Amino acid sequence: MNAQTAFMETDFTQLLVDSVDTVEDANKKALVSTVLAPRFYTTDFAAMDKIDVSSVRKEWDNMMQEYEGDNNHDHFQRDAEFANEVKATMSKLDDHLRQEFYDFLIGSLTSEFSGCILYNEVRKNISNPDIKKLMTYMARDESRHAGFINQSLKDFNFGIDLGELKKNKKYTYFRPKFIFYATYLSEKIGYARYITIFRQLERNPDKRFHPIFRWFERWCNDEFRHGESFALIMRADPKLLKGMNVWWIRFFLLAVYATMYVRDHTRPAMHDAMGLNATEYDFEVFRITSEITRQVFPILLDIDHSYFKKGLDDLTALSNAINQAKENPGFFSTLRQAWLATKAFVVFTKLYFLPVIPSELPKNIRIQPTW
Ligand SMILES: [Fe+2]
Ligand SMILES: [Fe+2]
Repeated sequence: MNAQTAFMETDFTQLLVDSVDTVEDANKKALVSTVLAPRFYTTDFAAMDKIDVSSVRKEWDNMMQEYEGDNNHDHFQRDAEFANEVKATMSKLDDHLRQEFYDFLIGSLTSEFSGCILYNEVRKNISNPDIKKLMTYMARDESRHAGFINQSLKDFNFGIDLGELKKNKKYTYFRPKFIFYATYLSEKIGYARYITIFRQLERNPDKRFHPIFRWFERWCNDEFRHGESFALIMRADPKLLKGMNVWWIRFFLLAVYATMYVRDHTRPAMHDAMGLNATEYDFEVFRITSEITRQVFPILLDIDHSYFKKGLDDLTALSNAINQAKENPGFFSTLRQAWLATKAFVVFTKLYFLPVIPSELPKNIRIQPTW
């Protein structure tokens, strides 16, 4: 994959905003593969089998003990209040918020399940005992997470058929190092997103319109630990964090940040309901994620640069314009979409070449989820 095809993978013309009215709609939505919708991944298992964590052995063994301890084994069960809360709050939601919430649940389920499948496939195809054990634990956690979200979708009769999804969704091949960068980031940004929502609703319980948010605190500690695992894998192989690879790290940071920003700005009602402003929420998530990624990445994106927010707003506007163009298909619409996509490419490139902030890797790799 070169930078050009990598950008094509992040195709901003692909955002679908179809509403979910039936279980078929929900399943169709989960199947769509775009940059804004989570993907399924496959990788080079032989290379995964060769990962050597001996240089971080002590940290690794401590982390494995945490996985073994499984402090969330009893967490993903619904309590007696859950069903009542769903009934009491969901009936009051307007259609807009409902649709955004379904979209959020389906997207979250797909990305949890994506992790579950990838970790399981790696586990099945390697014999390296360290990595096999890690993948077993992470697949265990992600399968709990996916199952828990699916229960909530089933409350609305929108349960996703995970067997069918596994069989029919498109798989994207990523070389192991791209899996490390992308998965590390998605685990850590997942933590930052969930903890920011949890803290907001902890302060404003009247804005918690669905009980699933009560589960987010202990839930995101799992994601944090998954991220720690990839941090150790990368720190064990320093060449992944040097030279040309730093350009890849920049690419993945920007792709992940930009995708989240554009996608979150398609859900204004949901942020509103939680008392969050999508832009402020996203910048808070960027700040937490940047602080965390110091443990492994030698650079940070300059999220306070005057062009950074402007570039993201331009990408959001272009993505919206592309969606509007799509509503009137035809020759001129196709032309317009291509023109808008080219403009998005230019904005993305400008963002990519903004100066970054160098950051020295700390001696102690592991950090704690203290946000
Ligand atoms: Fe998860
Ligand atoms: Fe995870």
